[in-house]
Formats: sequence, structure tokens, C-alpha cells
Amino acid sequence: MRLVLLGAPGAGKGTQADIMAEEFNIPKLSTGEMVRAEVAADTALGKEIKETINKGKLVSDSIMVDLVKNRISKNDCVNGFILDGFPRTIPQAEAFDSLIKSLDNQSFMVINFAVPTEELVKRISGRYTCKACNAGYHKEFKKPIVAGVCDKCGSSEFVFREDDKPEAVKVRIDVYNEKTAPLIEYYKKNGFLSEVNGTGTIEQINASVRALVKGFNSGFNKAAGEA
Ligand code: AP5
Ligand code: MG
Repeated sequence: MRLVLLGAPGAGKGTQADIMAEEFNIPKLSTGEMVRAEVAADTALGKEIKETINKGKLVSDSIMVDLVKNRISKNDCVNGFILDGFPRTIPQAEAFDSLIKSLDNQSFMVINFAVPTEELVKRISGRYTCKACNAGYHKEFKKPIVAGVCDKCGSSEFVFREDDKPEAVKVRIDVYNEKTAPLIEYYKKNGFLSEVNGTGTIEQINASVRALVKGFNSGFNKAAGEA
């Protein structure tokens, strides 16, 4: 299964991608996590893009397309993947279409999470992640089972994202509206898009995502059987 998750900053892409990746045993490819890892490791690329990310702006299309191309070519992606945060511009979507065509032309599903701006800000302002394993939490909506201890790895060190500061969040939302929101129309035209109401609990939204994926997979299997 190949799944692309679209949505504004804080819409819940990463949260839903983690759940689906575990259930389907396919990797989550979060381009945000990829670029933050470059920054944390202080690589040449990390040095080049650090300021751009921290200010809430987009990294260049050519860098992002190369990162995704390399990642998708790894063995663990043969049975599918979940893209979280890519594509994010029309040129990235066009490059992704070409990449899929050059691979095997297998269809992919795009799910867009619609969430009002006030809710996005609430979600981002309470977010924190485990420093060791990157598991995501929220001070109100998704607390660890044992306070101060990561559910996944037991670490007690947590971090906040530099680009979750209010001034960067404003830039990220503006950039989303200008550069990423047009992808909704792009994928509507291509017939790949499904929309999910991104408000509600994490579990309610996950139930909608599962239902869509089930429908997509059964349509896909039927088409493959008829071919
Ligand atoms: P990225 O890391 O992708 O950030 P983003 O798109 O701004 O999205 P977020 O990670 O903030 O939100 P999310 O939708 O994953 O929400 P989450 O599940 O965490 O990108 C960061 C930067 O990297 C970019 O600004 C750019 O610089 C660069 N970059 C990355 N990809 C790029 C690309 N393709 N091109 C160019 N540059 C790129 O949820 C948020 C919070 O809400 C969490 O605390 C969660 O617990 C909580 N929550 C989730 N769902 C719910 C719910 N239903 N109810 C209540 N709380 C919820
Ligand atoms: Mg995310």
C-alpha cells in the first residue's frame, strides 16, 4: 500500500502515519523527521537547511525530491510506504508522479486531513516528542501512560520542536496555504484524493482513515484480479 498524507502543520499526519505504519508493517517516511535528523546530526545538508526549517519555510524542491527518491529505493519500501509531509508543492507532486511511473506505475492513495486553523495552533502548541525514539505526544490530547515516561521506549527525555514557536508556526501555516493547499485540487483532478474530517479524537480519525484504506485496497485488489 502506498499512502500520501496531506494536511496543514499540526493536522495529525504524523500521528496517523505512526498508527498506520505499525498496523500495515510498512515504513512511515516523514520528510520533516528526515530533515530534522540532518540538522541534529549537523551534516553538511543539516547546516544548509537548519535556518530555513527553524523559520518555518520550505526546503528546496530539489533537495526534498532527492531525499524521497533515495528513501523510496530502500528495501523496506517494496511492500509500500506512508509519506508524511511530501509532496508539499506542485513541482514535488509532479516529481513524485514521475518517480512512481519510473518505478512500476502502481497507484497510490492520497488522504487530506481538514482541520480548522485554531485547532492546528492548539495541537502544535501542546506538542512534544521523545528525544530517544521520536514518539509524539500532546500535553492535553495525548499524554504518556506513565507521566514523564515514553510509552514506546521508556525514555524520560522529551523535546520541543524549534519550528513550533509561535512566529514559525505562523509562517508554516501561511506557507501551507500558499504552496501546499493547491495540492488538494491537483489530486482531485488526478482522482486519487480522499478527504477526512481531521477534527475529533485520534481514534475517531484513525477509524475514518482505516475505512478509506480498506475501500482503496479492495478496489485495487479487484482491479488487479480483473486485469
Ligand atoms: P513537518 O515535520 O512535516 O511539519 P508539518 O507539516 O508542519 O506538520 P507537523 O509535523 O507540525 O504536523 P502533523 O500533521 O504531523 O501533526 P502531528 O501528528 O504531529 O515539516 C517540518 C519542516 O520540514 C517544514 O516546515 C519544512 O521546513 C521541512 N520540510 C518537510 N517536508 C518538506 C517538503 N516536502 N518540502 C519542503 N520542506 C519540507 O499532530 C500535532 C499534535 O497534535 C501532536 O501533539 C499530536 O499528539 C496532536 N494530535 C494529533 N491528532 C490529534 C487529534 N485528533 N486531536 C487532538 N490532538 C491531536
Ligand atoms: Mg509531523
